[in-house]
Amino acid sequence: MTINKITVVGAGVMGRGIAYVSALAGFHTTLVDVSQEQLKSALTELKGLADKAVARNKITEDAAVAIFHQLHTSIELEAAVQATDFVIEAVPEKRDLKKHVLETIDTHAPSHIVIASNTSTISPTELGSYTKRPDQVAAMHFFNPVHRMQLVEIVKGLETGEETVKTIKEIAGRMGKETVEVKEFPGFVTSRISAMVGNEAFYMLQEGIASAEDIDKAIKLGLNYPMGPLELGDLVGLDTRLNNLKYLHETLGEKFRPAPLLEQYVKAGRLGRKTGRGVYDYSNDGELIKK
Ligand SMILES: NC(=O)c1ccc[n+]([C@@H]2O[C@H](COP(=O)([O-])OP(=O)(O)OC[C@H]3O[C@@H](n4cnc5c(N)ncnc54)[C@H](O)[C@@H]3O)[C@@H](O)[C@H]2O)c1
Repeated sequence: MTINKITVVGAGVMGRGIAYVSALAGFHTTLVDVSQEQLKSALTELKGLADKAVARNKITEDAAVAIFHQLHTSIELEAAVQATDFVIEAVPEKRDLKKHVLETIDTHAPSHIVIASNTSTISPTELGSYTKRPDQVAAMHFFNPVHRMQLVEIVKGLETGEETVKTIKEIAGRMGKETVEVKEFPGFVTSRISAMVGNEAFYMLQEGIASAEDIDKAIKLGLNYPMGPLELGDLVGLDTRLNNLKYLHETLGEKFRPAPLLEQYVKAGRLGRKTGRGVYDYSNDGELIKK
């Protein structure tokens, strides 16, 4: 089956990025959210991204115009998935919410299409069980920022069919991404390592071992990571990081217990770049303000 139309559900940090690479790859893309405001802010951010890409000669002006011909937004999930060829779910990492959204997609989307989830940690077997097509469900895990990160991690559930994996690989390839196949286990490869390192950095910050800047600098310059774990946490979203850790703590045990300081930041609404403040302050128009 030729795939032309992709529906991305959830227009947050990840969904908007996925919609951008999807539209850029020429797919007719519908970005769905419950919040009209999120959809508006996604379009503004993506216009800025496309403008920057043109200015840096990464894409042509025509390609930038084409993105916004291919990209549409909607707050009506049921209608948006009715005639789609492929769905990527990117709502927050909460099982009850994913269950509700996947059940809705399953009821209204054509029965032959694949439903992929951008989950960072949750079992694709469990996600598949929320639908009547578990053979057509898998995790398709993109990375942040989606337009820059090359990888898509594909995770099969118990019932996921080979055709489903083939379809996801083909779509990821058309979006210019490399893929790896990972066996199902909480946190897959990347989220498990990233959550562990990010949580440890929060414990260090809480223990007063070094300043946030010095923890990040040590990891970047000493261990050759492209970003420090605390600035990465701010980029990922501290609420998303905490949700991942809670799931890994529940499934893999004590070593993933979330740092109390991280919980405190989330309670305070310091969620990272998306709210203007996390470990660092971004209130100056999204720019990082060093303290
Ligand atoms: N943030 C990251 O760096 C990152 C990286 C890889 C994977 N992920 C995964 O991607 C998923 C989304 O994470 P995010 O960081 O983009 O979250 P986010 O909180 O930034 O965005 C989620 C969006 O989903 C919307 N939403 C909530 N309920 C909805 C519903 N019923 N229908 C449609 N939209 C709904 C919200 O309004 C919000 O805009 C999660 O599973 C997360 O684990 C995140």
